Amino acid sequence: MSTVSNDAPELAWLNGKIISWDACVIHARSQAAFWGANVFEGVRAYWNPDHEQLYLYRLDDHLRRLRASMKCLNMPVTYDDAELRGAVLALLRESNTRQDTHIVFVTGFNFGTNFDSLGYTEDTLTHITALPMPRSPRYESGVSVAVSSWRRISDETSPPRIKTGANYHNSRLAQHEAVRNGHDTALFLNQRGTLAEAPGCCVAVVLGNEIVTPPGTSGVLEGITLDTMGRLASERLGLTFQRREIDRTELYLADEAMLCGTLAELQPIIRVDGVDIGTGKPGPILRELQQLYDQEVRTGGQSTPVYPATETHVEDKPLTLEAGQ
Ligand SMILES: Cc1ncc(COP(=O)(O)O)c(C=O)c1O
Repeated sequence: MSTVSNDAPELAWLNGKIISWDACVIHARSQAAFWGANVFEGVRAYWNPDHEQLYLYRLDDHLRRLRASMKCLNMPVTYDDAELRGAVLALLRESNTRQDTHIVFVTGFNFGTNFDSLGYTEDTLTHITALPMPRSPRYESGVSVAVSSWRRISDETSPPRIKTGANYHNSRLAQHEAVRNGHDTALFLNQRGTLAEAPGCCVAVVLGNEIVTPPGTSGVLEGITLDTMGRLASERLGLTFQRREIDRTELYLADEAMLCGTLAELQPIIRVDGVDIGTGKPGPILRELQQLYDQEVRTGGQSTPVYPATETHVEDKPLTLEAGQ
């Protein structure tokens, strides 16, 4: 039975054109669809009602990582960064998007010679889709996680440093197992048995005045949200941000722990394997970081504004004084 929502957006972008959402289809036997031979990026856009502006958060960093994923998979570039930037701005403007939104860029191999599913091809496809994405209630409530019985894929098999659809088979196994067992999501250990990441997020723990996260060599995607969080923690809260291997038991002993990802944003981990983290409630450091994160993403510091600047910003409007003041 189909579970497709009827609330699909009207428009999407496919191979250079804005088209209807329903027309955004790729061939079932393309390499991208059949074997997950694609790379992708998920970017969030935040609506600021005071500025009447939609901000695409760290778009250029996401496009840089898309290029890195393409390079690792030896995928030719059909659209350069300027074209993709123009495409997403056109899609969001044409859709008149004025709410928090999650945008996905996908580039994949299309058909190899004689439909060879593994053959190198310069024939690629690219699509961009955007869905309304309000903040998850887990941002407030936190999540209960389980260490997965599945290990994270590794750089010598299917590199987790890149975002390719095929990597998410590993994520799906762990996510479904965790949910079947009554948890919200999973945490992966890597091939060495130290902490890696969650199915679609990075992980960090608070140990005293330090925030610790596994390094890029621990079997993780090097997260953009994690990078923002680390900068806010050190610059604004005076905490030390460190990348080093993390043992499973350090999770149980952490004062606080969190998931960091574009889609998840910063979510408190309140339980691991049924063991409370700290008090078993979202901790004070995480709450401060969430506030700083929200300010950062909604006020445009590292963002690309979607709509052309209006003559006067709300903040810049001159004060109109009442007579007699
Ligand atoms: C496997 C995986 N790890 C980590 C992340 C977090 O990365 P980012 O913060 O750059 O979105 C994501 C999400 O993009 C992911 O899919």
